[in-house]
Amino acid sequence: MTTIQKVAIFGASGNFGTPITAALQDANFTITIITRPESTAVFPRDLPILRTPYTLSHLTTALHGQDAVICVVGPGGVPAQATMIEAAEAAGVQRFIVNDFGWGPESNSFPEFKAIAAQRRGGWEVARRKAEGNSRFTFTGITTGNPIDWAMKRFPMMGFDVANGSATIYDSGTEQFTGTTLAGIGQAVVGVLLHPQETANRFVKVLSIRTCQNELLEAFQRATGHTWTVQRDTTQRLVASGKRHFQAGVGSWRLELVVAQMFDEGQARCLVAPSWVESDSPLLGVMEERVDDVVAKVLQM
Ligand SMILES: NC(=O)c1ccc[n+]([C@@H]2O[C@H](COP(=O)([O-])OP(=O)(O)OC[C@H]3O[C@@H](n4cnc5c(N)ncnc54)[C@H](OP(=O)(O)O)[C@@H]3O)[C@@H](O)[C@H]2O)c1
Repeated sequence: MTTIQKVAIFGASGNFGTPITAALQDANFTITIITRPESTAVFPRDLPILRTPYTLSHLTTALHGQDAVICVVGPGGVPAQATMIEAAEAAGVQRFIVNDFGWGPESNSFPEFKAIAAQRRGGWEVARRKAEGNSRFTFTGITTGNPIDWAMKRFPMMGFDVANGSATIYDSGTEQFTGTTLAGIGQAVVGVLLHPQETANRFVKVLSIRTCQNELLEAFQRATGHTWTVQRDTTQRLVASGKRHFQAGVGSWRLELVVAQMFDEGQARCLVAPSWVESDSPLLGVMEERVDDVVAKVLQM
């Protein structure tokens, strides 16, 4: 396997695609953004953009000459992933980073997520089969668990309403989970491309921190210098509400069940690895962050 230098990315303007593209730029990769003809996304001005239909023949032409491809499209784009992988292999690409950035193949999610997971796994299977049949083609999945700084800022249901200085603590607030910051997600992608041998044909497990709600609440109070208003809730109520909304086809079920499974007491559903040293973070150069560092990032966002 030769050194990876030329990298194409699908989904470059997304929530995760933006920090990943920035990290690739900082690491001096030669980047091409691939996007749909109908996309209205805004991209960094200094990068080449290739607008193309997502058909096998168009994508094979588009990916010719690339060393690696990163797929970080949102849920609407996941069905196109299999075609992206087939095109990458046909074009002679060495490494395809499949769309995970979640809980990976060993996820212990609620059964309601089965259909979403199946769609994702379909693409992963295509990558596995292509790698088995062609020793030049390899893949990596990057399992990052909770995107902790982004998610805490964006979703107060995760327990921290930064604008109002109030918290919702589920159950005892002691359930441990792991999270990766946006900077960590960007570095994880760079780390995979810098370590192609060690990361070939597997899912790497990444985390910036292992923590719990009570530790985060203390850190928010230290950082803001005042006592936050604390409400209590239960994961049991959240699970019941999420499952009811799932049955009724109300979209809020996803966030309710994502939050419920993070804090589901005693279940360790959202521990990507037991600790930073036991994850792939050291190999990939993803820094271990303290709870105060993560909270500072949330407050700065
Ligand atoms: N672990 C977590 O809690 C968590 C949270 C959020 C996201 N994620 C995962 O991270 C990955 C990226 O998510 P994101 O939130 O960054 O995505 P996003 O911002 O929603 O979308 C990223 C890009 O996907 C492309 N896209 C959207 N709809 C498409 C379609 N129908 N066909 C083709 N492309 C489409 C668009 O790019 P163009 O317009 O350039 O084509 C869009 O800018 C996903 O796998 C997502 O599940 C995980």
